[in-house]
Amino acid sequence: MKVAVIGAGTMGRGIAQTFAQCDQVEKVYLCDIELEYAEYGLKKIVSVFSNRIAKKKMTQQEAGKILSKIVTGTDEIATDPDLVVEAVIEDMEMKKKLFKHLQNEIVTNPDCIYASNTSSLSITEIGAGLKKPIVGMHFFNPAPVMKLVEVTAGLNTPDETVETVKEISATLGKTAVQVQESAGFVVNRLLIPMINEGIEVYSEGVSDITGIDNAMKLGCNHPMGPLELGDYIGLDVVLAIMNVLYEETGDSKYRPAQLLKKMVRGGHLGVKKGIGFYDYSDGGKVAVDLKKKSAAAPESK
Ligand code: CAA
Repeated sequence: MKVAVIGAGTMGRGIAQTFAQCDQVEKVYLCDIELEYAEYGLKKIVSVFSNRIAKKKMTQQEAGKILSKIVTGTDEIATDPDLVVEAVIEDMEMKKKLFKHLQNEIVTNPDCIYASNTSSLSITEIGAGLKKPIVGMHFFNPAPVMKLVEVTAGLNTPDETVETVKEISATLGKTAVQVQESAGFVVNRLLIPMINEGIEVYSEGVSDITGIDNAMKLGCNHPMGPLELGDYIGLDVVLAIMNVLYEETGDSKYRPAQLLKKMVRGGHLGVKKGIGFYDYSDGGKVAVDLKKKSAAAPESK
């Protein structure tokens, strides 16, 4: 099987790594709008492997075999995939335009399946007006580690496409859960409001950042507290999903926290920018005192 992953950001490169690690996959196109973004994505995968080699969890040969399957480039190289997984930003127009371009001008395989890794948007709307149907194939961060794939059918997605994507997920060692089309599907409908509420709890002064995170880690056995998880996912992504939940339902319980909006406006997006609820400078992780700090744009990192 040949797979094209479009978008080499955190999710895209994790998904590309996941496919490349699968014996049934012969080639993975890792694409982005600029070659250098795709190459940066590959560099990050190499660094994950270097850490695993250093920890003796993987050999150089194993890493080399997996990496040799990954080809980087712009979307134009994805001519013959059996499966496309779109993992670009959560922007409806961008996703629609991308699928149209791929289906009409790039992909020549008539049997190619087109999947979106959208974390909250309508699969029916993404697929509206396209020649080929879209299916939701939602991975979780870090994609090579997390065992779930949410599989979603839009109104026009054939059952057989859904079944094929479930089978492919199983081949990757993942468990597919089929979910109805609904804002945030299952996981983000539950998880993202919890993170948003963690931000409200912090804003109200109920506890400080590490207090809130420790409470949820130790009290609920969550691997990460809500604020560090928000940083890990990306606060811009958290806000985008809250906005979709709020707009789709019109329910005020999904209103994004003011502090979340302020942090996104100020560029404090979490791990990827080196600062969010924690400061990740020099490989560290120190809670930021946001009560003292105005959320001005961070210096470029
Ligand atoms: N890419 C690839 N592998 C990674 C990785 C990454 N970015 N980060 C960690 N790993 C791997 C490590 O290599 C390691 O693998 P090995 O044991 O085989 O060496 C394994 O994961 C564990 O990593 P660590 O020992 O470094 O760290 P940890 O034990 O603290 O686990 C964690 C890290 C897996 C991220 C864990 O903290 C965790 O599960 N956190 C919660 C993550 C979560 O909730 N994700 C869902 C977010 S919601 C989402 O993604 C949906 C959306 O649409 C927004």
